[in-house]
Amino acid sequence: MIGYNTLGVHILSTGSAVPDLSITNETLSTLVNTSDKWISTRTGIKERRVLPKEQSIIDLAKNASLEAINRGLLEPNDLDLIILATSSQNDLFGSASQLQAAIGANHAAAFDLTAACSGFIISLITASQFIQTGSYKNILVVGADILSRWVDWSDRSTCILFGDGAGAAIVQKNYKNDLLSFKLNTKGSQANQLSILYKINKQNIKIHKSIPFMHGQYEYLKMNGKEVYKFAVSQVPQSIQECLKLANLSTNDISWLILHQANQRILEAVAEKLSIPQDKMISNISKYGNTSAASIPIALHEVFKQGKICNGDIVVIAGFGAGLTWGTTIIQWNALE
Ligand code: UT7
Repeated sequence: MIGYNTLGVHILSTGSAVPDLSITNETLSTLVNTSDKWISTRTGIKERRVLPKEQSIIDLAKNASLEAINRGLLEPNDLDLIILATSSQNDLFGSASQLQAAIGANHAAAFDLTAACSGFIISLITASQFIQTGSYKNILVVGADILSRWVDWSDRSTCILFGDGAGAAIVQKNYKNDLLSFKLNTKGSQANQLSILYKINKQNIKIHKSIPFMHGQYEYLKMNGKEVYKFAVSQVPQSIQECLKLANLSTNDISWLILHQANQRILEAVAEKLSIPQDKMISNISKYGNTSAASIPIALHEVFKQGKICNGDIVVIAGFGAGLTWGTTIIQWNALE
């Protein structure tokens, strides 16, 4: 928890990728007992993207990464480190090494970071530590998730929420510092509110010479929506206030608020609690739903691409989700001279 820096951290460029296939609320209403009216009014979601079976999370992560690399005028071999924030990796030993190979970043170390919807923000802070200690110069941070493969498509309380996507940012060592402060939190006692649990299959337990051999599988994503909602609306504003204080700023200084895109009502409630005008809040949830670790970098890329962020703007980014985890960082956008 610091607000000072030995070396500056600069967000050089961003990228994003979503699958072409869009599933609208109307289509979902033919699968489960729901309606466009219920989903729109309770969540703000109109459609979400779903990855076809021939493609993997690496395809999405690769496209988002290459866009960020190209926009930053870098070569893949310029990267020193890749951090892949995901909770839906295609290899439990880690998928970041597959991404490293896919983009040809031959000099980069690579690892996964699993923290669900807070994954991108925790990865961004992790990357900044490597830069501030002088260890690395160019770091690729990717948030990618394909929770469409982990939800129960017959459970209307969860399947309507999630979509697939990836977003990426290049974090670079610089003489100016963009990252003004951060705050990360975890409340492990509430882990059961949102989880994808591994369960041992009782029929598959075999005891041989007192050695237990067992095998199991992952269950579907489970969420206590009401509790997660209450947690987000109470903890996120507090986290933002603490972060602003660390950076000697107030809510009036905020140019843009980019929250994890979980529910339009959560975004509005957080902005209202902090008296931040709704037009400073970035929302694209209607198009993509909740893309977990990808939601913040996809939104960040959208505002960069649209040229909404100007030099000197204060951008507050906050993520929250399973763990339960939450985190905020404050960025001052500096265009390089
Ligand atoms: O990324 C991780 C962070 N995740 C979140 O932040 C999610 C936080 N939670 C939420 O966004 C909301 O709690 C939900 C959108 C998940 C649910 O909204 P809610 O307003 O809390 O609804 P509820 O769970 O209280 O359900 C209200 C009613 C129930 O019916 P009864 O018991 O009142 O008869 C549900 O069975 O709505 C029913 N319901 C639905 N009806 C139509 C639940 N899902 C649906 C549905 N369509 N898809």
